[in-house]
Amino acid sequence: MSDAKTSNQMWGGRFAAGPSAIMEAINASIGFDRKLYGQDIRGSLAHAEMLAETSIISKADQEKIAHGLNTILKEIEDGKFTFSTRLEDIHMNVEARLAELIGPAAGRLHTARSRNDQVAVDFRLWVKDEFNRVAVALKGLIAVFLRRAEEHAATVMPGFTHLQTAQPVTFGHHCMAYVEMFARDLSRVRDAIERMDESPLGAAALAGTGFPIDRHMTAKALGFREPTRNSLDSVSDRDYALEFLSTAAICATHLSRLAEEIVIWSTPQFAFVRLSDSFSTGSSIMPQKKNPDAAELVRAKTGRVNGHLIGLLTVMKGLPLTYSKDMQEDKEAVFDAAETLDLMLAAMTGMVGDMTVNEPAMKKAAGSGYSTATDLADWLVRTLGLPFREAHHVTGRAVALAEQKKVGLEKLSLDDLKSIHDGITDDVFSVLAVQNSVKSRKSFGGTAPAEVRRQIRYWQKRLAKA
Ligand code: ARG
Repeated sequence: MSDAKTSNQMWGGRFAAGPSAIMEAINASIGFDRKLYGQDIRGSLAHAEMLAETSIISKADQEKIAHGLNTILKEIEDGKFTFSTRLEDIHMNVEARLAELIGPAAGRLHTARSRNDQVAVDFRLWVKDEFNRVAVALKGLIAVFLRRAEEHAATVMPGFTHLQTAQPVTFGHHCMAYVEMFARDLSRVRDAIERMDESPLGAAALAGTGFPIDRHMTAKALGFREPTRNSLDSVSDRDYALEFLSTAAICATHLSRLAEEIVIWSTPQFAFVRLSDSFSTGSSIMPQKKNPDAAELVRAKTGRVNGHLIGLLTVMKGLPLTYSKDMQEDKEAVFDAAETLDLMLAAMTGMVGDMTVNEPAMKKAAGSGYSTATDLADWLVRTLGLPFREAHHVTGRAVALAEQKKVGLEKLSLDDLKSIHDGITDDVFSVLAVQNSVKSRKSFGGTAPAEVRRQIRYWQKRLAKA
């Protein structure tokens, strides 16, 4: 009886063979963990060198192993390596090829090692590299925001709460809010690297090994600060993957808020910014349209990244110590989240870098919606000594009058204002202009252009050191 006939008639149609083929399909990770080939070979080179240094294997065998591994690296990089699903994962694909290339010495490489610590070290190396890539991308995005903030430290725009015009702010100040957010993401990346910077290699299957290995040596060779301290935890820990995903999810969430603002700002109704042609698309039917597709996709892709975090948390939840095959499911989540986040960061850096800021539209909007009402109330407190609550009430009446006359606050006549409170003088008009409103908010962290410039200098200095 052929294998095909033994596969289940109801659900086995996709499989060329019987249950063993199904087992192979569910078990194999080579389809995705081949991405770890560089880390796997690096780990093996360091392990073999340590085995020779500690006289666990001979120098001659180590040299053969190193030569073979370097040949494999080149084969993979040249696209000449045949990955086999039958060999399950990257570790066994490499080891099997090594045996073909160098014969029995290949069998000595796996001394004092297990795939459990091997996959842990490979994956840590990969995640650490990716964290560093994200750090570089974040620094690029922050640099773009710092540049835009400098250009627009004094460009007024409406500040919103509840997406309702609240008080005038500057676009530079708004840009600096994103600098704060992405700088926190950067610090999360750095914290996470610091915590994960330990080598699990040498934990072996779970309990360590009787061979006189030198874990400090392999940790150093692989660029880790030190070896992990507990062999059980070493092979069962995936916190670094979870921290990557949570850091990525928070960062993606920040990017989605920025994306949403760009979507709003680029509508003809707002017209605060105009996206460059390279980051927008036209409509196939409506010639007037310029769509912010890249921003919309950044907004949407956040769902994927957040989903991967929940996915891996759910995989890890309730797993007994130490390694379980469940943990093989860690990789696709992290790989996809990483690729997605890299693209999101690149798209946003490009978009923010070359969008055109429409200063007149921002300024016009900044003055609408009675955005300087708080300034009027503050003036009443400062100049006439009114308690703030009473000033709030008087201002409310001024807004109602302006609304009734369909004009802005600054367009009310002095007589109009005096009819509301007879202490009001000409001087009040100086605070009703948005530019002055913004200039007056020079409290630490406030929106005054001088304060925004101080914030910019702070971050320029801090990031130059980082
Ligand atoms: N492909 C496996 C993974 O990614 C490697 C570790 C397998 N270890 C084992 N004992 N089956 O998790």
